[in-house]
Amino acid sequence: MCGIIGILGDHQAAPILVDALRRLEYRGYDSAGIATVADGRLDRRRAVGKLVNLADLLVEQPLRGQAGIGHTRWATHGGPSVANAHPHRAGRVAVVHNGIIENFRALRGELGGPWESETDTETVVRLCETYLDQGLGPKDAAFATVDRLEGAYALCFLFDGEEDLLIAARAGSPLAVGHGEGEMFVGSDAIALGPLTDRLTYLQEGDRAVVTRAGARFFDAEGNQTHREMTRIRVDAARIEKAGHRHFMAKEIHEQPQTLADVLALYLDGDRVAPPLDYDWDATDRVQMVACGTAQIACAVAKYWFEQLARLPVEVDIASEYRYREGPVGAETTALFVSQSGETADTLAALRYAKGKARRILSVVNVPESSIARESDLAFPIRAGVEIGVASTKAFVNQLTVLLALAVRAGVARGTIDAAREAELVAALRALPGLVSQALAIEPRCEALAMRLAEATDILFLGRGTMYPMAQEGALKLKEISYIHAEAYASGELKHGPIALVDRTLPVVVFAPMDAVFDKTVSNMQEVMAREGKVLLVTDSRGAEAASHGVWEVLVLPRIDPVLAPILYAVPAQLLAYHTAVHKGTDVDQPRNLAKSVTVE
Ligand code: AGP
Repeated sequence: MCGIIGILGDHQAAPILVDALRRLEYRGYDSAGIATVADGRLDRRRAVGKLVNLADLLVEQPLRGQAGIGHTRWATHGGPSVANAHPHRAGRVAVVHNGIIENFRALRGELGGPWESETDTETVVRLCETYLDQGLGPKDAAFATVDRLEGAYALCFLFDGEEDLLIAARAGSPLAVGHGEGEMFVGSDAIALGPLTDRLTYLQEGDRAVVTRAGARFFDAEGNQTHREMTRIRVDAARIEKAGHRHFMAKEIHEQPQTLADVLALYLDGDRVAPPLDYDWDATDRVQMVACGTAQIACAVAKYWFEQLARLPVEVDIASEYRYREGPVGAETTALFVSQSGETADTLAALRYAKGKARRILSVVNVPESSIARESDLAFPIRAGVEIGVASTKAFVNQLTVLLALAVRAGVARGTIDAAREAELVAALRALPGLVSQALAIEPRCEALAMRLAEATDILFLGRGTMYPMAQEGALKLKEISYIHAEAYASGELKHGPIALVDRTLPVVVFAPMDAVFDKTVSNMQEVMAREGKVLLVTDSRGAEAASHGVWEVLVLPRIDPVLAPILYAVPAQLLAYHTAVHKGTDVDQPRNLAKSVTVE
């Protein structure tokens, strides 16, 4: 959600804080602010809107000081305004926060007004100030404050008169300490800290850290000093540049042939599937797959693969429902969590619900050091590299590829796939990067079609089998970045209601590779055309030959083994959404109301 950063440096902190906030903007971008201590005095600057507004303010009203904290916001309590922007301050203490303080109303009642903001975070600084007034030192005041907080938080405290001290604390939301040469840092993730240092220590659940330029001391939730492992990270700076593309999303769409090759190199060995981590799939009786958003759609596709290739029953759940439904988790059940960021609060909470109940906790993640990865028994990497665009593209395609590899591995382990079929699927997987490159060649067509889609107020997506969740992904991508209302249906479900929406103004995108259910999908497509619906058929050359007569438009993709088709059909879903959004002039990489990593409920 929000991004936070702290620095104890030997240079002016303000430009370094703003630069780090630029790398964190994918977490939230409705307002931003920094605070520093110079000559012992605490001061801050805050601005509404994109980070550039804060940068401009700092030109007019510079902030000196080599110690500072910064924040980029995704509003939870109180709209985007200077008063609600972080850092929040009360007297001698300032704080930046990512998360939600769930008992903030009670604390507000206890502390009493007046209040500068509508935020939950202001209660943190007010509480800390009361402890300072009672004579506690900064560390004890911060610790006493954190002891009173309920909910999710990553916090970084900065104090008046303290030019060599930051206090950090974490519960739920991710936070790390960065170790420099004579400099120290605190930040939400490796993307923010990576260009400053390659040595990070991740705070674990309930941890606090006392940071000075000499180093960091870590304390557990009870306040006992403890040891935390330092890890070396590698953040490929090139991966957080646009590389000549207009948007990160466009760059990440075009990176897919390479990211696919990267992940296949990790999961294939000769004509066999050989994941980097082994799991005894023949010893489990069911898989529960849990995730949010696009990651959940990847699970919905994988259900077909695990059930068809490995004859392994799969339940797919939305994490925010799974965690509160508190359903049964069998002792032989495998719980599998999918997350690009590895920090999505609902998915993390769902994992913690299943822990100790399920046979094993597996995850499929893009950020290897993330909380979900660290709290899993086995964390399967997807190697998509840093994904900045809020609308997930290359991570989705790599999630699908890893889930398919695991389904094939499960099939081999359970004896439902023989060596010949495995070799066939491996050959098809090896051909994927090339086929995705070919599929990217439809871009000019998508650009042309997008101009017409951009005029629509509603768009329907249809598909059968694995193309049903792909239709959902098409609709989600379009909604996220073009703000056009879009829905997806299993095409067989159409006549049970949604067909009432069809008229000559409604574009209907139909995903229909030539597979076992192609004819069924075509019948549904004809029901739409019979009611003058505008069908955009997405298929392959054989499908176009068989069914493009009378459709509004057709997009032809390379032919592919039907099992792998979802991975390829992600490309038109992405390109249609991208170009429709570009045509509508929306903020493609930072769409309104969204954030890349949802670390609050
Ligand atoms: C996808 O384009 C969205 N950004 C969103 O639905 C996302 O998939 C969801 O928030 C889950 O995120 P995660 O994979 O990082 O857990």
